[in-house]
Amino acid sequence: MPSCKNIILIGFMGVGKGSVAREVIKHSEYIAIDTDDIIESMENRSIKKIFAESDEDYFRELEKKVAMWLENSVKNTLISTGGGFYKQKNLKKIGVVVLLDSPFDKILKRINSHPNASRKLKKRPLFSDLKKAEELYNERLPEYMSLADVVIDVSDKSAVDCAKELLIKVKKHA
Ligand code: S3P
Repeated sequence: MPSCKNIILIGFMGVGKGSVAREVIKHSEYIAIDTDDIIESMENRSIKKIFAESDEDYFRELEKKVAMWLENSVKNTLISTGGGFYKQKNLKKIGVVVLLDSPFDKILKRINSHPNASRKLKKRPLFSDLKKAEELYNERLPEYMSLADVVIDVSDKSAVDCAKELLIKVKKHA
C-alpha cells in the first residue's frame, strides 16, 4: 500500500473516473468505492430519480453526508466521486485529490464511442442539455484544477495507462 491515505478521484461527468478506478484496483491493493453508488444504495433509487423526484439540493445534502462519513470512517480506499462532489468543504481532508482531466469535446467523444452512449447520457441529469453541460464544464474546470494534488490528463490514453500514471504520481506525492 503506497500510503494510508485515501485517493479521491474528481473530474467532470463522463471523464472516465469509474473506468480508471477499475484499472487502479487491478494494479494495486486498493479497494474502490463510488459516492454515487453509495447514495443510490442509501436511497434505493437512481441518481436520475433522486434529481427528478426530489431535487439537486437534496442530492447535494446526501453528498455532504457521504463526505463526512468518508472523512471519519474510510481509509486506504480509492474513492470515485460524482462530478459535483468536489464542492464538499472537507474534500482535502478525505485524501489525496486526483483530477482526471480532459477537454470537453474529448469527453463527449468518449461517451459517444460507448455502445450504451445514450443510456450513459440519460442517467446523468446535468448532461441532458449539451450546451449547459459545456458551460458547467467551463465553470468547474478552474475549481477542479485548484483543488487537485495530482492531475492526470486522460485524453487519448487508455484507462490502464491512466491508472498506472495515477499510482506513480500518488506515490511521489505521498
Ligand atoms: C454530477 C455528476 C454525476 C452525478 C450527478 C451529478 C455532477 O456523477 O453525481 O448526476 O454534478 O457533475 P458522474 O460524474 O459519475 O457522472
